[in-house]
Amino acid sequence: MLFHLLLYCFYVVFSSANTSDTISSSEPVRDSETVFSRGKRFKLGFFSPRNSAKRYVGIMFNLPSPTPTVVWVANRDEPLHDSSGILTISEDSNLVMLNGQKEIIWSSSISNSMKNSTAQLLDTGNLVLKDSSNGRVLWESFQYPTDSLLQLMKMGTDKRTNTTTLLNSWGSPDDPSVGSFSAGIQHRYIPQFLIWKNSSPYWRGGPWNKQIYIGLPEMNSFYLYGIDLVIDNAGTAYQTYSDPNQSRILYYSLNSTGSYQEKVWDQSKKDWVVTWANPRTECDFYAKCGTYGSCNPMNSPICSCIQGFKPKNDGEWKKGDWSGGCIRSTALDCERNKTDIEKDKQDGFLKLQTMGVPDFVISVPSAKKDCESDCLSNCSCTAYSYYRGIGCMHWNRSLVDIQEYSRDGAASLFIRLAYSELAANDKKDIPVAAIATTVSIGSITVILCGYLFWKLLAKHRGN
Ligand SMILES: *[C@@H]1O[C@H](CO)[C@@H](O)[C@H](O)[C@H]1NC(C)=O
Ligand SMILES: *[C@@H]1O[C@H](CO)[C@@H](O)[C@H](O)[C@H]1NC(C)=O
Ligand SMILES: *[C@@H]1O[C@H](CO)[C@@H](O)[C@H](O)[C@H]1NC(C)=O
Ligand SMILES: *[C@@H]1O[C@H](CO)[C@@H](O)[C@H](O)[C@H]1NC(C)=O
Ligand SMILES: *[C@@H]1O[C@H](CO)[C@@H](O)[C@H](O)[C@H]1NC(C)=O
Ligand SMILES: *[C@@H]1O[C@H](CO)[C@@H](O)[C@H](O)[C@H]1NC(C)=O
Ligand SMILES: *[C@@H]1O[C@H](CO)[C@@H](O)[C@H](O)[C@H]1NC(C)=O
Ligand SMILES: *[C@@H]1O[C@H](CO)[C@@H](O)[C@H](O)[C@H]1NC(C)=O
Repeated sequence: MLFHLLLYCFYVVFSSANTSDTISSSEPVRDSETVFSRGKRFKLGFFSPRNSAKRYVGIMFNLPSPTPTVVWVANRDEPLHDSSGILTISEDSNLVMLNGQKEIIWSSSISNSMKNSTAQLLDTGNLVLKDSSNGRVLWESFQYPTDSLLQLMKMGTDKRTNTTTLLNSWGSPDDPSVGSFSAGIQHRYIPQFLIWKNSSPYWRGGPWNKQIYIGLPEMNSFYLYGIDLVIDNAGTAYQTYSDPNQSRILYYSLNSTGSYQEKVWDQSKKDWVVTWANPRTECDFYAKCGTYGSCNPMNSPICSCIQGFKPKNDGEWKKGDWSGGCIRSTALDCERNKTDIEKDKQDGFLKLQTMGVPDFVISVPSAKKDCESDCLSNCSCTAYSYYRGIGCMHWNRSLVDIQEYSRDGAASLFIRLAYSELAANDKKDIPVAAIATTVSIGSITVILCGYLFWKLLAKHRGN
């Protein structure tokens, strides 16, 4: 009896200590078992979220964090309520999760006629289901992410494989079911990084200029390592990242309240450190100030109508409900009847500096010198901007989600206004000119004083 118990214990210890990185019909994963990737970076097994007894199969970083760092969940919407679950390969070659009654709880849901496949947990954190006879990939967890973006994962739309990959947040920190937020690449004219809340835009990283998302000028410095976007004309646009520092462990995830975060493993603290997160300010929330409203988190109130525009509903605007946005104070000259327009009095552009550009960018092939005139010649063009790596951008509708930044690297935005509005602006510019004069008088004074001081010093030394 004791011998048998010992043998059993030995078997349990042995079998859980020496699991391979592979799942097959003859090597299934039971609730108490764990599969490690070859380099032991990742592990796969059953887990319960904090404050929950429900059982899920997930992929986790193999790190001693206070709570398991789950990066992928198989049965996120179909939890098990006991420890009878088993992850195995079904007769039709699918990766499946069965309950104690051998019913399928979750499946990789591929349809194929292969009779033999195995799943392998790679050191990238990707769980790959392969045809055993030829190694062809049938399914992979990287194509069905949960809330985490790992190195070499492709997020976006791949036309070649006809797949769109989005991150989907957990319902809450205790519940891995599909939550309200998703993150991905939206590809209209220029791909942009976007977070949605219940399918409506929630936060934008702005268009990609082949190096950065221009709504995230900090990408130019040391954040957001090794991100690249692959774009082709056939409609493929996906983001990947590859950290050049291989000794750093870094990943991105979308938390259940919509915050997209970059996390780096801190070996000394034995925990993750959030090194970057967005949205950060009230102004990051999509269309905070409505159409033609500009948001600046340093201002109070944060929303203001762009010059030449006024609140659509004055009362609501003053109460801090900015969603109604702003409307033009003066109709555009190009919209007025031809006969009314004096030839030299036509629309022009107001320049706004260090801006986050509005949504609904249209990329036009105009050269830099023609970007403005091409916009001016088309009455439906409401604004333009020119940015390195993108070129000429036009907008042909009400401008929405405009933000004013206080950092370099952001765009200059040119807003179409009626001639009379710009003329009013020229008058307002006089104080600026006065300041400029004062400044130049000031610098002359400084130069003069410096000269006199130097003379005095020279004289003093001479003595
Ligand atoms: C682990 O199992 C494999 C085959 O299942 C075997 O070849 C290997 O020797 C085992 N390793 C250890 C350390 O027991
Ligand atoms: C499945 O593949 C494995 C390994 O290639 C092989 O040992 C096994 O016989 C195959 N089973 C069937 C039913 O083809
Ligand atoms: C791509 O997927 C969509 C929806 O899943 C489907 O309607 C379409 O036919 C697919 N296209 C190709 C080329 O496979
Ligand atoms: C690489 O990452 C490690 C661990 O985070 C860090 O200590 C080291 O300074 C990094 N090296 C560079 C060159 O950034
Ligand atoms: C998500 O992240 C943000 C910012 O770091 C934090 O304020 C918020 O509490 C987090 N949400 C949850 C549910 O932990
Ligand atoms: C333009 O002229 C037409 C006919 O003369 C008139 O009906 C219309 O209201 C005018 N539109 C504007 C914007 O003044
Ligand atoms: C003006 O812009 C609209 C919308 O971008 C476009 O459909 C139209 O063809 C343009 N018209 C001209 C004359 O370029
Ligand atoms: C803006 O331009 C796009 C592309 O030319 C066109 O499809 C769309 O209808 C235009 N929208 C408006 C409001 O003119």
